Amino acid sequence: MTVPTLTLNNGVQIPQFGYGTWQVPPETAQDRVAEALELGYRHIDTAQMYGNEAGVGAAIAASGLPRDEVFVTTKLNNNRHDPAVVASSLDESLEKLQLDRVDLFLIHWPLPTTDIDFVDTWRAMEEVYSAGKARAIGVSNFQPSHLRRVVQEATVVPAVNQVEIHPYFTQDELRAVDSELGIATEAWSPLAQGQVFDDPALQAIASSTGRSVSQVVLRWHLQRGDIVFPKASSVERLKQNFDLFDFELSDADMSAVSALDAGRRIGPDPDTMAWIPEG
Ligand SMILES: NC(=O)c1ccc[n+]([C@@H]2O[C@H](COP(=O)([O-])OP(=O)(O)OC[C@H]3O[C@@H](n4cnc5c(N)ncnc54)[C@H](OP(=O)(O)O)[C@@H]3O)[C@@H](O)[C@H]2O)c1
Repeated sequence: MTVPTLTLNNGVQIPQFGYGTWQVPPETAQDRVAEALELGYRHIDTAQMYGNEAGVGAAIAASGLPRDEVFVTTKLNNNRHDPAVVASSLDESLEKLQLDRVDLFLIHWPLPTTDIDFVDTWRAMEEVYSAGKARAIGVSNFQPSHLRRVVQEATVVPAVNQVEIHPYFTQDELRAVDSELGIATEAWSPLAQGQVFDDPALQAIASSTGRSVSQVVLRWHLQRGDIVFPKASSVERLKQNFDLFDFELSDADMSAVSALDAGRRIGPDPDTMAWIPEG
């Protein structure tokens, strides 16, 4: 029942499974993360944009777990791409998280149509990495062309690329580029934000394996080798989603899930996404 760990391109170990906290309200984040830690989750994905870093930090502090047993990711907000503010924004996150350093710090969106070049932002990320404030740095929502520019023009190869992936958007081409460049793939919205639950093909696999649709889909991600952190709002769901490590999908079931690919995004297109919060 142990969560597997993967080794990132700088040697840092990351639990392949964790808890995602987008849309977990600040006022309940501490309780939800505390429940997840109690159940055995050891990887928490948050972001400056989610507004819940303080709750995440409070739960980790209250858990009494040794610091090196919990893997914490946060992400640079879209209004903090100016290289001059990257370090101070991470300092603010660290204060909220009650940590000296995060395990992984990501550029949340590339924002390729805005004024600040993401390669310049990446160079500032390299500086916080050199300063020891993040054990690994990476990107999120980067397309192949964005990744190739970073790898060619900067020094540190991103450790991960966190992108939208689920049965309706399997992203095989992007995953192949990540792999070619030595970048681990993290799958966001692994349950397609809940859209998987009414799918007859997934319900059939759930029925034949005696598992839930959620477990079938999460198992499909894990067997493809991606890192996942589903969001859930109750102990029952957190527990069900964690119960993945004593069964395997057959090759036929893996293929049947992959065959649902429809090239359909739920989230924004990273090539055009330009949303910048105020403040
Ligand atoms: N980098 C990015 O740009 C980006 C973008 C989106 C997400 N993310 C990350 O990826 C994480 C996961 O993605 P997500 O939150 O978008 O969606 P998701 O994990 O694909 O789906 C979450 C939805 O599924 C429901 N759910 C979870 N487990 C369930 C179960 N066992 N049975 C029935 N329903 C279940 C949840 O309901 P309840 O909550 O009501 O229980 C929620 O509505 C985020 O939390 C965040 O950390 C990153």
